[in-house]
Amino acid sequence: MRREEEIHKAEGKLGVLIPGIGGAVSTTFLAGVEAVRRGLALPIGSLAQMGTIRLGKRYEYRAPSIREFVSLARLDDLVFGGWDIFSDNCYEAALHAKVLKSEDLEPARSFLEKIQPWPAVFNQAFVRNLDGSNVKAETSYLELAEGIKADIDTFRQKNEVSRCVMIWCGSTETYLEPTDVHNSLRSFEEGLEKNDPSISPSMLYAYAALTSGIPYINGAPNLTVDIPAMEELAEKQQVAIAGKDFKTGQTLMKTIVAPGLKARMLGLTGWYSTNILGNRDGLVLDDKDSFKTKEGSKLAALETILQPGTYPELYGDFHHKVAISYYPPRGDEKEGWDCIDIFGWLGYPMQIKVDFLCRDSILAAPLVLDLVLFMDLAQRAAMTGIQEWLSFYFKTPQCAPNLYSEHDLFIQLMKLKNTLRYLMGETQITHLGLDYYYQS
Ligand SMILES: NC(=O)c1ccc[n+]([C@@H]2O[C@H](COP(=O)([O-])OP(=O)(O)OC[C@H]3O[C@@H](n4cnc5c(N)ncnc54)[C@H](O)[C@@H]3O)[C@@H](O)[C@H]2O)c1
Repeated sequence: MRREEEIHKAEGKLGVLIPGIGGAVSTTFLAGVEAVRRGLALPIGSLAQMGTIRLGKRYEYRAPSIREFVSLARLDDLVFGGWDIFSDNCYEAALHAKVLKSEDLEPARSFLEKIQPWPAVFNQAFVRNLDGSNVKAETSYLELAEGIKADIDTFRQKNEVSRCVMIWCGSTETYLEPTDVHNSLRSFEEGLEKNDPSISPSMLYAYAALTSGIPYINGAPNLTVDIPAMEELAEKQQVAIAGKDFKTGQTLMKTIVAPGLKARMLGLTGWYSTNILGNRDGLVLDDKDSFKTKEGSKLAALETILQPGTYPELYGDFHHKVAISYYPPRGDEKEGWDCIDIFGWLGYPMQIKVDFLCRDSILAAPLVLDLVLFMDLAQRAAMTGIQEWLSFYFKTPQCAPNLYSEHDLFIQLMKLKNTLRYLMGETQITHLGLDYYYQS
């Protein structure tokens, strides 16, 4: 790991490679970046662009913006390319996604029209509810991975980028149990030669990225880089990996509310979460095996935050249920309901209802931007392998195999900011503060 002056500066262009570039999240991200670049909008929701970081003692009143404190790529230096199973250019795809109004898309029209998805690596066994024709013709996994690498090389040369980052904004793949083929790089590469059915398309993209020296971020709950084989490859190639599943609507709320309940030692008997959404992601999740992948990701947070083993009287027996219903009239404007049954003093029951009328892609787009910028920073700082400090952005944060993930949003934020302080040689902030009152 490099620190302070040794961190390579963010010079030259940063290539952003996106599998699923024609999707709702991706096109909303792209249109938003262009609007910010043209001064038409603020990057609302982006910690990297709008956040500040407190440094030193409170009486020093030092709180620079994060983007001044660390060297991040400038938005003007970002260039984009990616793959999708549909051949619509990103303007047509954004119209189809119906997230942004036409008046917000129009200024970015010529920019979006120029982004034409490259043919994808796709296998319908992993995304049953979609079928597109913009796919690579090869059938051998090794050839497909080589095809992705060739796309990357062409993009790099054409745009003269100095660095790249890949971020998966593609559909959620069907549920996969880790098997022997995922257990080591050697078994994975043998699996590639045999077209092993436990290797999904997202793993081929990740393999192509890592072997090209490009960090990989997983925005969906797919296994992808969360397997020993990819962790080994990332270490071997000295590249960064992070995942998985953007933490946006309901799980964001869950990881805000649950730490508060626990902080006050209020008990929980049940947490019922349901969603209606009608975008293409909702259509994909309407397949039970894709939902199973998402369900696991959505269920993980509460157990870890509430620690039932440590607090059996409060959290030893709570019922947690998560459902998603595909309901086309809502499009991207998801509604997430939470019915939370809690208990307090003398066991008296109480209820909390959360009805979050959110917009899925509006919440996800700034996360894509931050992850791209911070992963590029990690790579320039020679931070290789799993980037747990970015767990702030994920529903199921990937961490070292001997650890449990940290889900509490506020601990995640502290971890992220302390990592930035550490990289820049600043003192960690512990919030102890006794030295303001007692001199030792
Ligand atoms: N929007 C959110 O709040 C949110 C939160 C967490 C995770 N996610 C995840 O982010 C991903 C994108 O979400 P979205 O709403 O944009 O979905 P979307 O369906 O609009 O976009 C996904 C795109 O991926 C494409 N695709 C599927 N398989 C592909 C492949 N093998 N190669 C290339 N392209 C492929 C699809 O054609 C589609 O255009 C999904 O996996 C979703 O579960 C989204």
